[in-house]
Amino acid sequence: MTSKTLPNHEVKDLKLAKTGLSRIKWAKQDMQVLNLIEGRFAKELPFKGIRISICAHVTTETAVLGLALKAGGADTLLIASNPLSTQDDVASALVSEYGIPVYAIKGEDIPMYKSHIDIALNHNPHLIIDDGCDLVATLANTTTAGTCKVIGSTEETTTGITRLKAMHQDGKLYFPAMAVNNALTKHMFDNRYGTGQSTIDGVIRATNRLIAGKTAVIVGYGWCGRGCAMRARGLGANVVVCEVDPIKALEAFMEGFRVMPLDEASKIGDLFITVTGNKHVIDKNHFESMKDGSIVCNSGHFDVELNLVSLENIAKSKCEVKPNVDEFTLSNGNKIYVLAQGRLVNLSCAEGHPASVMDMSFANQALALEYLVKNNGKLKPGVLNLPNQIDVEIASLKLASLGVSIDTLTPEMVDYMNSWTVGT
Ligand code: ADE
Repeated sequence: MTSKTLPNHEVKDLKLAKTGLSRIKWAKQDMQVLNLIEGRFAKELPFKGIRISICAHVTTETAVLGLALKAGGADTLLIASNPLSTQDDVASALVSEYGIPVYAIKGEDIPMYKSHIDIALNHNPHLIIDDGCDLVATLANTTTAGTCKVIGSTEETTTGITRLKAMHQDGKLYFPAMAVNNALTKHMFDNRYGTGQSTIDGVIRATNRLIAGKTAVIVGYGWCGRGCAMRARGLGANVVVCEVDPIKALEAFMEGFRVMPLDEASKIGDLFITVTGNKHVIDKNHFESMKDGSIVCNSGHFDVELNLVSLENIAKSKCEVKPNVDEFTLSNGNKIYVLAQGRLVNLSCAEGHPASVMDMSFANQALALEYLVKNNGKLKPGVLNLPNQIDVEIASLKLASLGVSIDTLTPEMVDYMNSWTVGT
C-alpha cells in the first residue's frame, strides 16, 4: 500500500510497520480457530456495509481479529483500551500494511486516550467491540445515545460486564451487549491460563527477579487469580491467596494455598499481584506494613486496585529505577517497588496473553458480532450471554486444531442419560 492510500491514523511511527507485520504473522499462526472463521467470513461477507469500532489492547492478536472482521467486509477502526498496552509496531502495520485506521500510541496521556474514544464514536459504528466498557460508557453519556444506530456491542472483560450491568440498571444501555467474557471458552482459558502466564511474564520482564522461594500474595481468586496463583506456584513461589468470597477462599485453601486477610499477608509477602476488579484493594495500611523490597503490581483491568495516591503520600521519595519499576522509599526506610504505574502488568510489561488463548477469546468476539448482525432487531437492550452452541463450536474447533480427538456418546448412553426408570 502506498502512502497516498493510507487511512487516517494516529500511531507512533509508521517505520515500525515491518516488525509489526512479522509479529502479526507469528501470532496468526497460533490462532487457527479465528483463521477458519476468517476464511468463512471472506466467502460470506457477514459485515458488508457494517462499521465496527474496536476499543481493545492493540496487540498482534487484536490485529488478527481486525483482519478477520475486515475479510468479512467490515469497515473497521481500532483504538486502544489502555494507555500503556499498545504495541506501536502492530498499530503501524495495521495502518500501512492492511489499511486499517488505528488511533493508539503506547504511553498516550488521558486527553489523547479520550480523543481516540471520540474518534471511534465519530466512526458512527453499527457494532462496538469493547474491552473494559470505556467506549460504550462514553457513548451512553452523549446526548444522541438513545437514538444511535448501534446494533449491539461485545464486551471482553469481567470489569466491563460489571459496568454494563450497572448501566443497564440505570436505563443507560440502549442496545444488546454480548458478554463475551461469560463464554466458557473465554474466561476458563483466557482469564486463567492467559492471565496466569502473561502476568508472571510481565513481573519477570520488568524485574528479572527470581520467583522461587518468594512469598507471592495473589489478591482475588476469580479465574485470573486462579491462573496467577497456579503459575506462581509452578515457579516455586509460596503462594498466599486473599479473597472476600468464602467459596472462592475455600477453593483456594483446598487447592493447597495459604489463605489469610491482606492485613496479615501484607507483612509477609515479597510479591503482590491484584486481580480483583475492585478499588484500593491494596491500601495505605498495607503499604505501611510491607517488607522492605516488596514488589507490587496489578493485573486487573483498571489502575484503581492499588491506592497509589496514598503510597505517594506516605513516601519520602519516588524514582524510576528501571523501565516500568518505580521505587517508593517510605519514612521507615523501606522501599516498595510498583510495576507499570499500577496498570495491567501483563500488557504493560509483557505482551499480554499468548495468541493460542486469544484465539478462543477473539473467535467468541467474531461470532458474537455475527450473531448480533444476524439477529438485528430481535434482541432487547441488556447484557446477553452468547448461545452455548458457539462455545461448543469453538471448543471443538480448538481441539481439532490442536490435533486432539475425543469420544462421543453411544446411542445406549444417550438413552440412559435421558431416562429415569433405571435405578437400584
Ligand atoms: N488481553 C489480554 N491479552 C491480550 C492480548 N494479547 N491481546 C488483546 N487483548 C488482550
